[in-house]
Amino acid sequence: MDSILVRGGGPLSGEIPISGAKNTCLKLMGAALLTDEPLTLTNVPRLSDIGTLATLLASLGVEVARLQEGVVMVLSARQLTSHTAEYDIVRKLRASFNVLGPLLAREGRAIVSLPGGCAIGARKVDLHLMALEAMGASVELREGYVHATAPGGRLKGAEIAFPFVSVGATENALTAATLAEGTTVIRNAAREPDTVDLARCLSEMGARIAGAGTSTITVEGVDRLHGTTHAVIPDRIELGTYMTLPGICGGEVECLGGRRDLVDAFASKLEQAGLLVVETSRGLKVARDGERVRAVDVKTAPFPGFPTDLQAQMMAMMCTADGTAVLEETIFENRFMHAPELIRMGAQVDVQGGHATVRGVGRLKGAPVMATDLRASISLILAGLAAQGETRVARVYHLDRGYEQVVAKLRGVGADIERVSDNG
Ligand code: UD1
Repeated sequence: MDSILVRGGGPLSGEIPISGAKNTCLKLMGAALLTDEPLTLTNVPRLSDIGTLATLLASLGVEVARLQEGVVMVLSARQLTSHTAEYDIVRKLRASFNVLGPLLAREGRAIVSLPGGCAIGARKVDLHLMALEAMGASVELREGYVHATAPGGRLKGAEIAFPFVSVGATENALTAATLAEGTTVIRNAAREPDTVDLARCLSEMGARIAGAGTSTITVEGVDRLHGTTHAVIPDRIELGTYMTLPGICGGEVECLGGRRDLVDAFASKLEQAGLLVVETSRGLKVARDGERVRAVDVKTAPFPGFPTDLQAQMMAMMCTADGTAVLEETIFENRFMHAPELIRMGAQVDVQGGHATVRGVGRLKGAPVMATDLRASISLILAGLAAQGETRVARVYHLDRGYEQVVAKLRGVGADIERVSDNG
């Protein structure tokens, strides 16, 4: 297993290219199951999660070709050879549960493993199943698998009202509805840019969708979809992550391809903390002019609110801020596992239920730490960049799931960071 060694230093300045969005790309890949024509995706991030889903799709009979060093992916689901998404893959990647909607819509049946819990919480799938049942699917749970069938081979349009916002459930319902008979209305739908990009791609494939980006999405089912070529949007979480660098280390970083509309709530918090955020012709530039950032309170919420996937990074920044910040996590019940690791680096964080109170200490101290999930891992690296001395972050495989070329990108702005093999 590899670790990442970070030595804290001075300001970081330069450019960081932002990759295609992982969470969007995963859902776009699943949409390939809806048509027998090829779906070509460009701006695909080269990440292990993408490889994991490609393996799952291949096990269903999808031909997957990666071109131009993996940045372009052609998925061709001419004929599916299996309806079963196996536990061995789904347990590694929860997003693979989102093959359920497309498989059921196209084939009239699907068997998909339940993903189980994960480090950040229980993460149920009841809303996914509720939506598909509303569309006429019969759903049974047997031996850890969801067995779903559409009577007569086709789902039916339905009214679906989610009790709270779920990105995954909205996207499973949306994809399933494209090929259903009749009209589906999804209320309290996710408004995340990922969901909007998925809807855009589905529309390019011939789906009839209105209202994506609002909380009511209407889908008029069609008989078939066709192939298209679609560029994945920039990764707003990677973007937000690198936007914290000037706050943590000082300096000026331009995130190439970054867009304010993808991270508006987050950018506003950075501005309140004293950072300068400027849209340029090439992306988003963030700079720190004063000494330390100011403490700001944050509460996570579905889009357009402050993203839960940027909470850990914000905590790393608040550890060095002037003042005391309260971070409130409302999406996942167990998403402060980075706090005890940050405390090992000298941070003053007190977690009580869904609230973390962070008292800024100015400078952290390097320490060996352990990553527990993707966003926690990057927060420890960010903290290490601001710390005195050396920080060793173990369990780097979490980072490989979601941050393309993280070491090279950070070195590009002057960070002292390297990947080392623990086996010598
Ligand atoms: C997606 C993102 C993830 C992000 C999250 C919230 C992908 C691959 N992942 O995850 O990075 O952190 O959105 O922005 O796109 N819930 C239920 N029942 C359900 C579904 C969800 O109770 O059937 C709960 C979850 O446990 C959680 C909350 O709803 O507490 C929100 O989860 P959801 O929006 O569904 O997150 P994901 O789609 O899994």
